[in-house]
Amino acid sequence: MTASISDPLLDWYDRNARALPWRNPPGAPLPADPAWPYRVWLSEVMLQQTTVAAVKPYFEAFTARWPDVEALAAAGEDEVMAAWAGLGYYSRARNLVKAAREVAARGGFPDSEEDLRKLPGLGAYTAAAIAAIAFGRCAVVVDANVERVVARLFGIREPLPGARKQIRERAGAITPDTRAGDFAQAMMDLGSQVCTTKAPRCLLCPLSAQCDGREKGIAESLPVKPAKTAKPERRGTAFWIERTGEAGREVWLVTRPGRGMLGGMRALPDDGWSAQADGSGQPPLAGEWEDLGAVRHTFTHAHLTLAVRRAQAQGEPTGDGEWWPLARLDEAGLPTLFAKAARLALARAG
Ligand code: ADE
Repeated sequence: MTASISDPLLDWYDRNARALPWRNPPGAPLPADPAWPYRVWLSEVMLQQTTVAAVKPYFEAFTARWPDVEALAAAGEDEVMAAWAGLGYYSRARNLVKAAREVAARGGFPDSEEDLRKLPGLGAYTAAAIAAIAFGRCAVVVDANVERVVARLFGIREPLPGARKQIRERAGAITPDTRAGDFAQAMMDLGSQVCTTKAPRCLLCPLSAQCDGREKGIAESLPVKPAKTAKPERRGTAFWIERTGEAGREVWLVTRPGRGMLGGMRALPDDGWSAQADGSGQPPLAGEWEDLGAVRHTFTHAHLTLAVRRAQAQGEPTGDGEWWPLARLDEAGLPTLFAKAARLALARAG
C-alpha cells in the first residue's frame, strides 16, 4: 500500500517540485549547512496560515538579516516584530524569538518531533514538518493540503473536524520510511497545485488511478467542511496625532501591550476596540478632531471597521509612545491594519 502511493507521488515530485527558497531539490541528501534546520523551521513558522507567495519575500529578508539561529537569538524582539510586520499572526514572531533563544542556548535544534514540540510556537503539524524536512525523520505531516488529498484519495465522507483522526491514520499508512521530507512536501505540492479545493486537475494527478473520491465522482466535495459561522463585525477608532518638529512632520506611535491582539507591535493609539465589543475609550489628547473616514480589515475571528481621526498635537499625548518621523514611517513596522489607517491619513491632506 505505502509504495503504491508514495512511489508515483515521489516520481511526480521529482519532475514537478516547486523550487522554493527554503527547499532542498527533490532526491538530494540533507544539506550539511549548519543553518539548514533553522531555514526549515523559519519557513514552516512563516507558512502557518500564510501563503507561499506572501512568505517568500519575508523569508529572504529574514535569512539575509539573520542567517542562522544564533543571529536571530541575538536580535531584539522589537526588531523582529517590526520585520514581521505585514505577515500577520504576530504571536508567531514573539514565539520565534523565544524559540531562537532556547535553541541557541541548547546548542542547536532538537531533531525529534517530541522535542521540537516543546519549543515555543511549534504545534503538532510544524514539529512533524521540521522533523521530516530538516532531519529526514519519518513523521506524519498533515496540513490542510494534505488533509484534502487524503480525504479524496480514501473517499472519506465524514465531515471535519471529526474526520481528522481517520485522515491522520490514513496519512500515516501511506508515509514511506525514506524520503520523508520529500514525501511531505510532495503531498503539499500536490494539494496546492493539482488536488485543489475547487476544480481539481485529476488528469494531471499521479494518484488518480487509486483515488476513491475521483472514482465515485465526489472528489471536489471532499473533505466535507463544517458549516461556517459568520464573523462578528467590530468597530473601533484609531487616532492620528501629528506635530511638526525639528525633524519635520511626525506622528505619535505606541507599542501595543505584549499579550493581546497585535501584541508587541507598533501602532496608532486607538480607543481600545480590541478589548471591548464596541470601542469607546477616549482619545489620548484633548483638542479638535477631524474624521478622515474608515478602513476595513479582516482578522481570523472578526471583521473590523476602524474609523481614523486626526488632530494636531497641542503638547504631549497621554500615555507611553514616541514621535515617529513621517519620512521614515515605512520603517516603523506597522501591522497591516495600522498601515491601512496611516495610508488613509497620509492621503487626506491635513
Ligand atoms: N506549506 C507549509 N510548509 C510548506 C512547504 N515546506 N512547502 C510548501 N508549502 C508549505
